[in-house]
Amino acid sequence: MADDQVLTDLLTMVERSPEVLALRVCVIELYLDRGRYADALAHCGVALGHHPGNAQVLALMTRCTTALSGGSPAPVATPAPAAAPVAGAAADYDWAAAENQVGDIIEPAFVDTPTEYVTDDDAATVERPTRRLADVGGMDEVKRQLDLTLLAPLRNPELAKAFGTSARGGLLLYGPPGCGKTFLASAVAGELGANFYPIEITDILDIYTGASERNVHSIFEMARRNAPCVLFLDEVDALGHKRSQMHGSSTMRTVVNQLLTELDSATHSNEGVFVLGATNHPWDVDVALRRPGRFDRMIFVGLPDAAARRAILHYNLRDRPVAGIDLTALAARTDGLSGADLAHVCTSATQLAMADSMRSGEVRPIGMADIQEALAQIRPSTGAWFESARNVVEFANGDGSYDELALYLKRMKQR
Ligand SMILES: Nc1ncnc2c1ncn2[C@@H]1O[C@H](COP(=O)(O)OP(=O)(O)OP(=O)(O)O)[C@@H](O)[C@H]1O
Ligand SMILES: [Mg+2]
Repeated sequence: MADDQVLTDLLTMVERSPEVLALRVCVIELYLDRGRYADALAHCGVALGHHPGNAQVLALMTRCTTALSGGSPAPVATPAPAAAPVAGAAADYDWAAAENQVGDIIEPAFVDTPTEYVTDDDAATVERPTRRLADVGGMDEVKRQLDLTLLAPLRNPELAKAFGTSARGGLLLYGPPGCGKTFLASAVAGELGANFYPIEITDILDIYTGASERNVHSIFEMARRNAPCVLFLDEVDALGHKRSQMHGSSTMRTVVNQLLTELDSATHSNEGVFVLGATNHPWDVDVALRRPGRFDRMIFVGLPDAAARRAILHYNLRDRPVAGIDLTALAARTDGLSGADLAHVCTSATQLAMADSMRSGEVRPIGMADIQEALAQIRPSTGAWFESARNVVEFANGDGSYDELALYLKRMKQR
């Protein structure tokens, strides 16, 4: 058959160039289409050997393991060969029961919230996540502060006015990398629905025609028309980098100056326009951007606490075949790791279980031993960030901007 000729040719090419990912992915997809899940899985294993942690291959692998455990991963061209029953595969594993066994509190499942795509008059196509703050595990203090400073005044503008506060201004989320700033912002988006506008730096910068200034202005005009709303600027240090450090980048300087003008209450009425920013390096953000009325409030997003770590582990293992995983015990043992570190641990543990499955020819679910082994190999990735943070607190906290961080570092030392 012509189709099988394609597969044969691809297999020959893959044999000659085993490390070329695109070829390997084609082979895996062809096997999946034909319902040959075990063959597809074997190629996933080889691909991960060459490209550890590759997201595309991991997704394909999940489709294989789901199919092998009785799920339906993809349209199948030919009937699937009978697959051996898999104990503890993702579909079978009862998280709630397992957690009950260790006397844990059962929480609502941490779901991978879908994203809706909607079109507005003003914004082109806006990605609108439906994740809510309740879906963010742990981090109660950060959630409380976000609710108090941002969500509550936006929901009750009249009440806020009566108490002499208002739904305007800016809030900067800051903290070490991979600890949930962007994730939290998407939860705020879910809370606010239509009134949340994520602004990509590329939406603003226009180095060829010099329209950056106008772009910033039209974004703010759109926000004023749609108030109350939140403009979200991720990695804001890239924009507001200290003007003195911009080495003559006139586009950036123009953007920052325009941003300052737009945020200024003397020139514009920004009632109901809230700007939420996120950065790893608040100390690199132009100080002018942190003056009253601009990003004048900062919330520190530190390392995930035990509840957050548990949610992160759950989230990262949710579609994978697992057996005997005690999330609470793991959460207790992973203090000091960031969300990104924990995601990496889950990927490494998956690879270990998969390599074993390759050897035996049977799917062996991910167990505690795999996670322990993966944990033994990881070092917290936030060490360098905390070193800089300590210097900032010691030498550059004259105005008390980093008092919250200072307190956190002090508590960290005491642990
Ligand atoms: N409280 C939490 N509950 C569930 N998942 C979380 C939580 N915090 C972080 N995560 C997960 O951790 C990962 C890293 O989070 P995120 O990308 O939001 O970090 P960040 O602080 O924005 O990092 P960076 O500074 O590198 O941009 C994400 O995959 C996210 O899903
Ligand atoms: Mg981020």
